[in-house]
This record gives sequence, C-alpha cells and structure tokens, in this order.
Amino acid sequence: MTARVVTVAQQKGGAGKTTLLVQLATAVAALGRKVAIVDIDPQATLTGWMRIREHEARGTPELRFAMVGGWRLGVELDRLQREVELVLVDTPPHAESEAKGAIRRADLVLVPCQPSPADIWASRATFTLAAKESRPARLVWTRVPPRGRAVEEARAAVAREGWPVAAAELGNRQIYVTSFSRGLGVVEAEPKGVAAEEVRALARELEDALVRR
Ligand SMILES: Nc1ncnc2c1ncn2[C@@H]1O[C@H](COP(=O)(O)OP(=O)(O)OP(=O)(O)O)[C@@H](O)[C@H]1O
Ligand SMILES: [Mg+2]
Repeated sequence: MTARVVTVAQQKGGAGKTTLLVQLATAVAALGRKVAIVDIDPQATLTGWMRIREHEARGTPELRFAMVGGWRLGVELDRLQREVELVLVDTPPHAESEAKGAIRRADLVLVPCQPSPADIWASRATFTLAAKESRPARLVWTRVPPRGRAVEEARAAVAREGWPVAAAELGNRQIYVTSFSRGLGVVEAEPKGVAAEEVRALARELEDALVRR
C-alpha cells in the first residue's frame, strides 16, 4: 500500500505549521511507523529542525527527510510513498501556487490556526484551495491559551464557517518551542507531559481520519 500524504498548510506566517508537523511526525514515528517529512518552504525551518535532530537527537526514531522545490514535489512523493507509511508535507506561507501542488497530493490537509481573527481569516484561503482540489481539510487549533474570551469568539467564528475541526488541539506551551530547538518532538522531550498527551491525541485522530478514507 502506498503511504498517505498529509499536507500542513496555512497562508498566514507563523501560524504553527512547522511546529504541528514535527509534533505529528515524531508522535507517529514513536508508534513504530515509518514517517517521511518533506520541506517545500524556502525558509527551510523544517530543514533546520532536521539538521539539529541529525546531530543531537540520538536514540530517537529515524525520519525520512526531503527538501524539494515545489516543482519536484510530485516525483519526490511518488518515491517516498513507496518507502514509508505516512508522508507529512510542510508548506510556505503566502505562497498559494506552492501550497496548491502539495494540497493536490494530500489525502488530508491540516490547517493550524491560532485563536485569533487574523488566523481565521487567513484559513479561508486554504480551505478554499482544498475545496477546489476536492481534498478534505481539517482545522487544528494551536497555541490555545488556557482560557479567555478571544478563544470562545474564535471557536464561534470557525463554527459559523462550518469547517471541520480536529477535536485534539495544541496549547500555548513553551515545551513546543524548546523541544523544537533540540530537534525533538514533545513526545520525545517530555513524554509524560500535557503537551505530549495533546500531540498523541491528535496523532490518533489523524490515523483514524486516514484509515477511514
Ligand atoms: N503550540 C505552541 N505553543 C507555543 N509556541 C508555539 C506553538 N506553536 C508554534 N509556536 C511558536 O510560534 C512560532 C511560529 O511557529 P511555526 O514556525 O511552527 O509557524 P509556521 O506557520 O511554520 O511559520 P511560517 O509561516 O514562517 O512557516 C515559533 O516560534 C514556534 O515555536
Ligand atoms: Mg513553517
């Protein structure tokens, strides 16, 4: 069977795309699955994380990695899909044409969104793209503060849009930042922490969604 492809996309810069991707990749790899991560963002943030991982993160599961120009994505995905069980693609912000190619190949598009109006407005572009390509997309709340009016308003706004929303969400936690700078996911850096629990819940949800397709 060829691997499923999950594309993480969101027009807004700094929404949490690369963070979400490394968390899911490390959580799924920790279950013993073969995972590939693909960076098509010229900023190369995911590539940077992978470089640190190769040097620092000894004893953690191996991830297949590729950095490709958007135009070579198709060929790379054909190859990786034969070699692993799940491929996660990280896309650049403000780059509709690159994101489009990655969305077209996705079995599922994940749209990380912080509970703020700006993130929600920017999410619309990604959901529209996914709909045009007939790809299922799901919003993933990230950097969610423990409470607050802004969060409630954001949830209500997204409910009005009618977009599918992942039940699991990532809180606003320092461990997401500090584990990233060590080339790790939170399931590796702090396996018993709250963040690891949220990431594992999201990984389970992702697996369920992909199996049902
Ligand atoms: N759940 C979280 N809790 C705390 N900080 C977070 C969380 N998610 C992301 N961040 C921080 O927010 C910043 C942006 O995250 P990230 O690089 O993942 O976003 P991005 O969407 O990939 O950005 P770009 O559009 O530039 O590619 C980073 O400093 C990251 O550490
Ligand atoms: Mg990024």
